Amino acid sequence: MKGLILSGGAGTRLRPITHTSAKQLVPVANKPILFYGIEDMVEAGITEIGIITGDTGPEIREAVGDGSQWGANVTYIPQDAPLGLAHCVLIARNFLGDEDFVMYLGDNLLRQGIAEFVESFEADHVESRAGDAQVPSAQILLARVDDPQRFGVAEIGPDGEVTKLVEKPEHPKSDLALVGVYLFDPSIHEAVAAIEPSPRGELEITDAIQWLIDNGHRVRHEVLEGWWKDTGKLEPLLEGNRLVLDMLEASNAGTVDAASVLEGIVVIEAGAEVVNSTLRGPVIIGEGSRIVDSTVGPYASIYFDCEISASTIENSVILEQSRITGVEGIADSLVGKQVEVRRARTTPAATRLMIGDHSIVELR
Ligand code: G1P
Repeated sequence: MKGLILSGGAGTRLRPITHTSAKQLVPVANKPILFYGIEDMVEAGITEIGIITGDTGPEIREAVGDGSQWGANVTYIPQDAPLGLAHCVLIARNFLGDEDFVMYLGDNLLRQGIAEFVESFEADHVESRAGDAQVPSAQILLARVDDPQRFGVAEIGPDGEVTKLVEKPEHPKSDLALVGVYLFDPSIHEAVAAIEPSPRGELEITDAIQWLIDNGHRVRHEVLEGWWKDTGKLEPLLEGNRLVLDMLEASNAGTVDAASVLEGIVVIEAGAEVVNSTLRGPVIIGEGSRIVDSTVGPYASIYFDCEISASTIENSVILEQSRITGVEGIADSLVGKQVEVRRARTTPAATRLMIGDHSIVELR
């Protein structure tokens, strides 16, 4: 079995957060989101992994390399324009050959991994063959959500099988959303070649799976029990960060002075320094970062080589090499890399900004 991870490009939503940062490399609990997907694949025994890249290809390649850090072998497949998830399958045809494969959207984060998902597909094949039943051509993962109109939505028939899949329906007929993890056999290649672009101009994987159903294939489904976050937006990203931080175990590979206080689950990575500060767990402080005269946490992830001084930060993700000085009450925020946020010493009262593309600033 092979793996296909969509790291960028793909569809309109899989865009970088800024022109320099790939969204899939934003760290959740100090690990790039994309790495969770790679680890899930390797844990499920899949080490031949194709990564579809878009605009942020060079950054993704630099971070992931040849995959050997996970014992995997990574092949990069560039996509020239974000023409949809099914388009990714089309352009990965040579890489995938005639093998079954797992497709994983690089910004999805799920608690339970995919090992059981892959095992149950394989077990169903064995059982179906033994019982002379139809083997599944695809397997989808569904999760109950409050806002199904934001996702692909599945309808289940009276016999418990999926009957219909609709991409972002205005009036959803169920609350079962498609999670960004799919399992396919080679029949999907015929499906992605047969469908037409959707109203948003993309070849939708949802439509390709519907094509399989309409053409007599069996599509198996499972309903997810653990949490799942599609981290495409800020709030789910922060939720994902909270959920992963809750699973960490406390450790300290840095230095903490006697005036500092650590409460709850606190992870301090190598070379980090905490001076006269309070860390309220769950919180993670990245390699080489310095926290001085500050209160950090709960639910804050400070990536590597940051400097936080005389500030308070909670429920936030701060990317590498950023400096926050003299700012009280930062909350619910995502701060990019090499950013500086500081209290102005000048009058008159004016707000001075030098902000990158696609930024959002909320002022009080
Ligand atoms: C894609 C799929 C959608 C699925 C979602 C999961 O949406 O098209 O069916 O529910 O990922 O993250 P998109 O990210 O392209 O809006």
